[in-house]
Amino acid sequence: MSDTISPPSTHVRMGSSRGQPLTRRDGLLKVTGTATFAADNNPQGLVHAVVAVSAIARGRVASLDVTAAKAHPGVIEVITPANRPPLAIDPDQKTGLFGFRFEALQNDRVRYAKQPIALVVAETLEAATEGARLLSPTYEAEAARMGFDDGERYDPPAIGIGAPTNFVRGDIAAGHAAAVHSIKTDYRTPAQYHNAMEPHAIVAEWDGDRLTIDSPNQAIVMSRGLFAGYFGIPAENVFLRSPFLGGGFGSKAIMPGPYILAILAARMLGRPVKLVLPRDQMYGPVGHRGATEQTLRLAMDADGHLTALEHHATAQTSSFDEFIEPAANASHNLYASPAIETRQQAVRVDIGTPGPMRAPGEASGSAALECAIDEAALACGLDSLEFRLRNYAETDPASGKPFSAKALRECYSRGAERFGWAGRPLAPRQMRDKAGHLVGWGMGSALFPAPMFMAEARATLRADGTALVETAGADMGQGAWTALAQIAADGLGLDIEQVEFRSGASDLPDGGVAGGSGHTATAGSALYNAGTDAIAKLAELASSDPDSPLFGSGNAGVEARGGRLYHREDETRSQSYAEILSRAGVATLEGTGKGGRDPAQAEARAMFSHGAVFAEVKVDPDLGQMRVTRLVGAFAAGRIVNPRLATSQLYGGMIWGLSFALHEEAIHDRRSGRPLNADLAGYHIPVHADIPAMDAILVDEDDPYVNGLGIKGVGEIGITGTVGAIANAIWHATGVRAHRFPIRIEDLI
Ligand code: MOS
Repeated sequence: MSDTISPPSTHVRMGSSRGQPLTRRDGLLKVTGTATFAADNNPQGLVHAVVAVSAIARGRVASLDVTAAKAHPGVIEVITPANRPPLAIDPDQKTGLFGFRFEALQNDRVRYAKQPIALVVAETLEAATEGARLLSPTYEAEAARMGFDDGERYDPPAIGIGAPTNFVRGDIAAGHAAAVHSIKTDYRTPAQYHNAMEPHAIVAEWDGDRLTIDSPNQAIVMSRGLFAGYFGIPAENVFLRSPFLGGGFGSKAIMPGPYILAILAARMLGRPVKLVLPRDQMYGPVGHRGATEQTLRLAMDADGHLTALEHHATAQTSSFDEFIEPAANASHNLYASPAIETRQQAVRVDIGTPGPMRAPGEASGSAALECAIDEAALACGLDSLEFRLRNYAETDPASGKPFSAKALRECYSRGAERFGWAGRPLAPRQMRDKAGHLVGWGMGSALFPAPMFMAEARATLRADGTALVETAGADMGQGAWTALAQIAADGLGLDIEQVEFRSGASDLPDGGVAGGSGHTATAGSALYNAGTDAIAKLAELASSDPDSPLFGSGNAGVEARGGRLYHREDETRSQSYAEILSRAGVATLEGTGKGGRDPAQAEARAMFSHGAVFAEVKVDPDLGQMRVTRLVGAFAAGRIVNPRLATSQLYGGMIWGLSFALHEEAIHDRRSGRPLNADLAGYHIPVHADIPAMDAILVDEDDPYVNGLGIKGVGEIGITGTVGAIANAIWHATGVRAHRFPIRIEDLI
């Protein structure tokens, strides 16, 4: 195995496939309905499961009428805490990086509304649904704690994903003492729930102590191990398939309790079980973005340079787990200030545990930070862009380290130019359109970390000169099947049509996590390295063959492209892959590779994608109705593998930003604790009519340190910056500053 995780590319010509705006390789399958999603699997003997969920948020289930449900035609079994078979691990234990405590009917406690309280299994979905309805539970309810003031406030432990960081750098008091201008402001962000088109779904089938699972998953091999742990079987006994996901957004990186219940039911009954969560059950046990309250204090000198930046955030979590939306982290890496302090507290409420949701922390945190920056610019009498430029961080404010690459200045200038920012009046309520609507312009900076995880891949050259490349990666819809195959093709010096790409199953090399905007960089590096490993072996064969035109050239003496190896000094000396393999009598030649961050670079440099978002809004002066009419983002994220797919990712993020700013909010009833808008009618997300003309500019950025391929991520950054840009534009249109999201008409009155 090639242990080089940042490949020095000696023999592969850079990028014939990378950089091409190819359409999705799986696009035709998807639009013709032939792509197989988890719930499309119907193994022989399949039965259907439906989860019954709690109608209260806190207390216990006093009774369930199992008799009526079991008597219903077609119902096979009702699983409750009374008859639930044991698990090898208590679901209240936290195991591993993605360990969440969850409900698998371990007792009669209710910890949030829509918590699973029973599982009904039946021959048909209809019978299971009716069986769940017949349970008629009664409860002993306790008062639900739903608000920031109701629940216990505490300092959350810094563990696992979403780990909050309390952070101080520099002298905050001195920063405030030196200030000429200052602002103190606060913002509230709501709970948001996952609404992937494909809800959580699982088909589980046992064969003795071997388990096959079809389920959408962002971390396939890691999840295989976690599933195995709960059922006390070796990881090799679990085969997990997840070829396509109808959206992931972080929710499908964790295993919710209902999955465990479905697997339990399949083992209990000796039949395959299918469970698909209905839309309203997406508002309970599968994670969400937790609500936050944030306070920022910014101090500036006479020239508008920050002298102190404080960002304190309180986030809601459940009564039984620790994940919080780490919002204050957003202030660590963007603006230069001699003193920065961030604090994060948690409040326990009786709702399901939050989890990762696209740009966890950065989305909510940057919404507040970018509004606060606008308020600070105004306090200094400066244009918002000018203020951001005066506080441009040349090195990472949190660590003092140099950035691996940072083209944010170019993002500001290209975005501002495309948008037409110059000449924007400083004062609000200065612009109107012909119809008399108030027009406002706002901006926000975008930032997202460029992490890498660990991944492995295999590349197999075949006798005909084509190749098979394999990694257990996840295509959530972002286009991994295409972008990863493009990188793999380059590693092999082949055209993409000659590369068969296999992914999305747990018997393939570990593709790592599709999350953190790090999947393309990580799995891509593994694939690239696997390809170069195979080519190195191929070059070895040619170089040691006395009859080869490449005899004696050595690995470093050849270049691979178009399915041939060429002598570096003499282009007339070349040989095709097929010919080299056939002369050596080798049917297939396998290379392997790993992807991950070079620890020395991780230590030396701060690594982020950057961007700038500009928004225009129009507000009806009488009705307060708000419309986003233009949205321009410019983003620098290293080398772009596929501009078409990257642009789509950025559009998606910016649309989510618009959703965050103006639409999205889960409303919980304070007495019952139930989500009141647990469907796509009541839970507002933008439709086409809400989405304006958009531009996503890809700013060239050469990052030689982030990884050997120079790739960062584009999956999450689009949300950051956009929320603030829209909120700032609404202020600019109206002169009214809303301090909560989503911004509502009544906030402007
Ligand atoms: Mo994402 S919230 O990193 O899947």
